[in-house]
Amino acid sequence: MAALALFSLVLRLFAVQAVGGGDGSGSGSSLTACLAAAGVRNVTARGSPAYDAALRVSIQNLRFAGAGAPKPAAVVVPASLGELRAAVRCARAAGLVVRIRSGGHSYEGLSYTTEDRNAFAVVDLAALGRVRVDADADGGGATAWVESGATLGQVYYAVAASSPTLAFSAGSCPTVGSGGHIAGGGFGLLSRKYGLAGDNVVDAVLVDAGGRVLDRAAMGEDVFWAIRGGGGGTWGAVYAWRVQLRPVPERVTAFVANRRGTVESVARLVSTWQHVAPWLPDEFYVSAFVGAGLPESDRTGISVTFKGLYLGPRHEALQILTARFPEIGLSDLNPREMSWIESVVFFSGLPEGSSVSDLTDRVLHKKNYFKAKSDYVHRPMPLDQLIRAVEVLSKQPKAYVILDPYGGAMDGFKSSDLPFPHREGNIHGIQYLIEWTADEDGRRDEYMDWLRHFYDLMGAYVPKNPRTAYINYMDLDLGTNNWSSDRRSNIISKIPNPEVEAARAWGERYFLGNYDRLVRAKTMIDPDNVFRNAQSIPPLGGPGMTRSLPPAAISPKVTCNGSTNDS
Ligand SMILES: Cc1cc2nc3c(=O)[nH]c(=O)nc-3n(C[C@H](O)[C@H](O)[C@H](O)COP(=O)(O)OP(=O)(O)OC[C@H]3O[C@@H](n4cnc5c(N)ncnc54)[C@H](O)[C@@H]3O)c2cc1C
Ligand SMILES: *[C@@H]1O[C@H](CO)[C@@H](O)[C@H](O)[C@H]1NC(C)=O
Ligand SMILES: *[C@@H]1O[C@H](CO)[C@@H](O)[C@H](O)[C@H]1NC(C)=O
Ligand SMILES: *[C@@H]1O[C@H](CO)[C@@H](O)[C@H](O)[C@H]1NC(C)=O
Repeated sequence: MAALALFSLVLRLFAVQAVGGGDGSGSGSSLTACLAAAGVRNVTARGSPAYDAALRVSIQNLRFAGAGAPKPAAVVVPASLGELRAAVRCARAAGLVVRIRSGGHSYEGLSYTTEDRNAFAVVDLAALGRVRVDADADGGGATAWVESGATLGQVYYAVAASSPTLAFSAGSCPTVGSGGHIAGGGFGLLSRKYGLAGDNVVDAVLVDAGGRVLDRAAMGEDVFWAIRGGGGGTWGAVYAWRVQLRPVPERVTAFVANRRGTVESVARLVSTWQHVAPWLPDEFYVSAFVGAGLPESDRTGISVTFKGLYLGPRHEALQILTARFPEIGLSDLNPREMSWIESVVFFSGLPEGSSVSDLTDRVLHKKNYFKAKSDYVHRPMPLDQLIRAVEVLSKQPKAYVILDPYGGAMDGFKSSDLPFPHREGNIHGIQYLIEWTADEDGRRDEYMDWLRHFYDLMGAYVPKNPRTAYINYMDLDLGTNNWSSDRRSNIISKIPNPEVEAARAWGERYFLGNYDRLVRAKTMIDPDNVFRNAQSIPPLGGPGMTRSLPPAAISPKVTCNGSTNDS
């Protein structure tokens, strides 16, 4: 109840808060003046001594932390929904592009830098991280309202604190922000049982480019569909998600097993994994990490690491593996029973000995420089192809691949249910990564090129037309918007906006047949393309689009338990 009162207070505050209009001069100083007038205090402008720290705090890919990466005019940290609204309106009035940052894990840095030279502001949701669990709001099972600045670790912690047998299905890294993660889908260890994070969203509160506050009913089903997988930074600022929580047993079973060997023996194990993991019971998740540099303590030779979570007791897990995957090596597998939240810590990448409360730490302590690419696989690859791929991988210890098993509940969704289309028929995802440190950054181009060549080589073994990818593993090599000639009057007046056909080239690789519906949703919610980045969905363009939402749906008073009060 206390939490509910707090949310209501926040909402009343935003209702009375004056939102300044700015002077439209396009300068950082007009932004700060506008924000000051609106009562937004946590604003760090370029040139201020605190600027570097405010910007760097959640830059999670150091590739975009250096002097060469374009920097924002200011970092604004709204403390309430009202302040978030003011931040969007003030940035827009000052002629700045708005970059919303939740957890800062964008693979291409799009929440805090820009590939073009348009001036921008970072609106950092670090102070909007509250999570409120509703045990059973309306007979539909437990849900939680999650402010989108909450990290996944903060969400998991709050959910488990409310009940040891409730969970949320989303990614494994605790510092990832729910804002960007759910916006791109969100795959994790429970996805073979319960689908993506986006599949488990039942309502949301969106601040659109006009500063309107829209819940699911007000934004309409097309926009509500688009924000759950169509990618972050495109539709508006998601203030909060209402997510469905799911039952988990009191004890689950977890293991990590590193298997080192020859190229051929590792390829054989991966081949067996490809034939087994996608068809295990939905309660069983086993992923495979392959690389010469894994684990970091041993950078010789090649190995595969299996990470397993079974939603049930140890003896059942062992029974299933004995019958289906004995090649994994059962004698020293040593699966352990633990609570679900302990398994989250186990797979979190936090240092050994970390506790459940460490999940709420927003800071990623081991940051690197990295580049990633992704693929989806429809059928197991012939062994000789796998041997060739593992052979190449064995020569570059800075690179590794992560194979995430699909199947199970992932097949139970149609590819048009959400913008994320990679459902039935996709047996697993592949993520290609290469990581390096500051000392090695002089060889950045060499590392990036290595990854691109490996990806090209793998192209022979995966489905094409198009070759698909996952938006949360964003890859600007697939193509980018070109806003360099972008003056709204110039492009948006063209019908159709030529950017729509240009963006199809990469848009269909992420979204397949959902691309056109995404363009329609974008045209409805942000026709002026205020929220944009290198791979945001472009609007159709043309006059008269700004009023596409029915006037009655504008600015309802949304309460954070999802009810809408139209008075
Ligand atoms: C270490 C690491 C581990 C990861 N593990 C997984 C995993 O297990 N499963 C998986 O599916 N993905 C995983 N990812 C990918 C991750 O889901 C995406 O990078 C995701 O977009 C990050 O969200 P964020 O809020 O942390 O990032 P941000 O960089 O803050 O945001 C990403 C994008 O979303 C936009 N955005 C952020 N918040 C909002 C908001 N509230 N409203 C509207 N737009 C917003 C940003 O502007 C940006 O364009 C991982 C990434 C990293 C770096
Ligand atoms: C601004 O917000 C950040 C992130 O929540 C916080 O660490 C910092 O202390 C805040 N600064 C001020 C002056 O309130
Ligand atoms: C972007 O558009 C501008 C103006 O139309 C053009 O000059 C430029 O070559 C384009 N850039 C790319 C990378 O296509
Ligand atoms: C939501 O909150 C409102 C007012 O705060 C309350 O009247 C209503 O019963 C709540 N609804 C649910 C589903 O909890």
